[in-house]
Amino acid sequence: MASINDNFLKLKAGYLFPEIGRRVAAYAEANPDKASQLIRCGIGDVTEPLPLAVREAMHKAVDELGCRDTFRGYGPEQGYDFLRKAVADNAYAGLDISADDIFVSDGSKCDTGNILDIFGKGNTIAITDPVYPVYVDTNVMIGNTGEADESGRYEGLVYLECNAENNFVPAIPEEKVDIVYLCYPNNPTGASATREQLQAWVDYALKNDTIILYDAAYEAFIQDPDVPKSIYEIEGAKNCALEFRSFSKNGGFTGVRCGYIVIPETVTGTSSTGEKVAIKKLWSRRTSTKFNGASYPVQRGAEAVYSEEGKKQVQELITHYMGNAKLLREACTEIGLKVFGGENAPYVWVACPEGVTSWDMFDKMLEEANVVITPGSGFGAAGEGYFRISAFNSRANVEEVCRRLKTHLA
Ligand code: MLT
Repeated sequence: MASINDNFLKLKAGYLFPEIGRRVAAYAEANPDKASQLIRCGIGDVTEPLPLAVREAMHKAVDELGCRDTFRGYGPEQGYDFLRKAVADNAYAGLDISADDIFVSDGSKCDTGNILDIFGKGNTIAITDPVYPVYVDTNVMIGNTGEADESGRYEGLVYLECNAENNFVPAIPEEKVDIVYLCYPNNPTGASATREQLQAWVDYALKNDTIILYDAAYEAFIQDPDVPKSIYEIEGAKNCALEFRSFSKNGGFTGVRCGYIVIPETVTGTSSTGEKVAIKKLWSRRTSTKFNGASYPVQRGAEAVYSEEGKKQVQELITHYMGNAKLLREACTEIGLKVFGGENAPYVWVACPEGVTSWDMFDKMLEEANVVITPGSGFGAAGEGYFRISAFNSRANVEEVCRRLKTHLA
């Protein structure tokens, strides 16, 4: 009989969002009269249609595929040059990132998990707590951890606690870690990191030969001009950081899938014989073997995000979602809840009323307000006592959520 990867048996129950989906479905089945009133502010999934410029580019690309003269089969595994160049010229203008440093993919969830393929065993890995669960689960799957303790923390990972006192940006650890995941603007807390905080992390990484895996999937939501949008705005980052970005949240690509990793040539790891090896070379090799590229119409759609019209239309989406975040923040504040995030990110992070756990809050919101939120503890032990409201929704739904919050939690 084939043996399995035992590491999977260490994983706690289900992945957070399907688990929430299961509970919501069970509630809707048991309460059919309430099902139509449910408003989902749990998973951060976009609700507004793809920008027109993106759709037009995709239509055109599909038509090209329908014509013998312009048909294309396999594309370059690392992404078409037109998109790699558009990303470098637009998203990284002035930051000395070249098209060749951009590796196009089918999204950041896959990228942040797959990147572990190229790192060796025995690395000390640090994650924030609370955290986007993919970073933890993929390390468990690949065997980088021991078992979970009662609080759900895995043996072998270094947990960097994020809380209201440190504005949800972790303190630099005393110990040396080999890899650290940082995500700013942050999922789930909606916090942003200042230039000084990121500089301290880059300085730490350079001093300790640490690689920073920087998830910037929410950079487009930054409103404050002083908040860095990319880790490469920080001096020295090109020698120690990889950056993950996505078209999911800015361009509404959650269903069509496209993202990328930026890997400068100067970021290196060490082989077992002590040789310094460029991470970029390994990732390129891995990509050629395991991936055949994001689809051509999707990459044309992603390119259109950077067209004049595309930029305007994406900005309208951001303005819409951040308007929602503002309303949600105000409603929670008005009823006396302590609110974080939602200013440079589409997530509002709310402290539960005294003595109420995250899952109790989830149940209360589901059963009394018919609103789906995400319990903070689903993102890690330090998320206990908080809940997350996603601002990805229609304005009408968000206004209704605000009314229900005031009715049921005031
Ligand atoms: C979330 O709700 O945290 C996001 O949708 C997760 C993701 O982008 O995969």
